[in-house]
Amino acid sequence: MDTIAFLGAGNMAAAMVEGLIREKAWPPGRIACMGGSGATASALASRTGIRLARSLDELVAGAGTLVVAFKPQHLASADPRLDPLSAGLLVISVLAGKRIEGLSRAFSRARNIVRSMPNTPGQIGAGMTGWCARDPLGPADRATLEEVFGALGRSIELPEPQLDAFTAVSGSGPAYVFEFAAALRDAAVAAGLEPATATTLSVETLLGASRLLAHRDIDPETLRDQVTSPNGVTAAGLRKMSERGFRGMVRECVLAAKARSEELSA
Ligand SMILES: NC(=O)c1ccc[n+]([C@@H]2O[C@H](COP(=O)([O-])OP(=O)(O)OC[C@H]3O[C@@H](n4cnc5c(N)ncnc54)[C@H](OP(=O)(O)O)[C@@H]3O)[C@@H](O)[C@H]2O)c1
Repeated sequence: MDTIAFLGAGNMAAAMVEGLIREKAWPPGRIACMGGSGATASALASRTGIRLARSLDELVAGAGTLVVAFKPQHLASADPRLDPLSAGLLVISVLAGKRIEGLSRAFSRARNIVRSMPNTPGQIGAGMTGWCARDPLGPADRATLEEVFGALGRSIELPEPQLDAFTAVSGSGPAYVFEFAAALRDAAVAAGLEPATATTLSVETLLGASRLLAHRDIDPETLRDQVTSPNGVTAAGLRKMSERGFRGMVRECVLAAKARSEELSA
């Protein structure tokens, strides 16, 4: 039985490892990790019971899959033995903005290479990960991928050119939602509520509406209309959103993020 090796043991690797163990997809004994010069890898290993590797050779010994989870800028300065030592492995990269083409140079002898973009709700198993593979995946590698990304929540395979749009929507999207939550909280205070109450109402309203949206198989416009009586309270609020160009602003926000993602991809 082969292992999954994590190179980089920070927030993203921890979310994946903890999800794999929580979902009982991989036992701790079949997961290994290694970090840089800090203490993240030893902390992750002692917290979860996975194996702590002291060298790259130790990390990949017995591994079938290598998850590359350090910062994108670490790739250029990574140990040059990474290329030969990753020969024959399924390499899964979570490095933001690193294209398959560049990854194929860094891991030239990998069995296959997967570029992925997780998002921060993955830390609690509620993430959305977009991914693409260099070559068509065999059933065993597809199953491994489903387990690794399933540890973070849901995932979707996309053609690589669409990953910048994915990044702008689902990668950055949590930040837009957090910004909306902050705006709703501030507006609640402006409407006369105590800050603590405003915070609770903002969070719970977003949570409840999102859960309702996910629960029902109907579009958001229909759900919106169910809350809105003609010339009623919600209609007054929505009219203001429309007058101030809310949808156009969200569109510009996503397109700007997509353009920046394209600029930064290498
Ligand atoms: N966090 C997210 O929600 C998120 C979302 C999408 C994509 N990502 C991607 O996930 C990756 C990791 O992000 P993160 O938030 O987990 O970062 P992080 O918490 O800062 O962790 C970085 C990890 O990389 C290790 N490291 C540093 N230099 C290394 C080297 N030369 N060789 C091996 N390991 C090295 C660090 O070890 P030491 O502590 O020992 O230095 C640490 O374990 C990034 O590429 C990012 O683009 C993250």
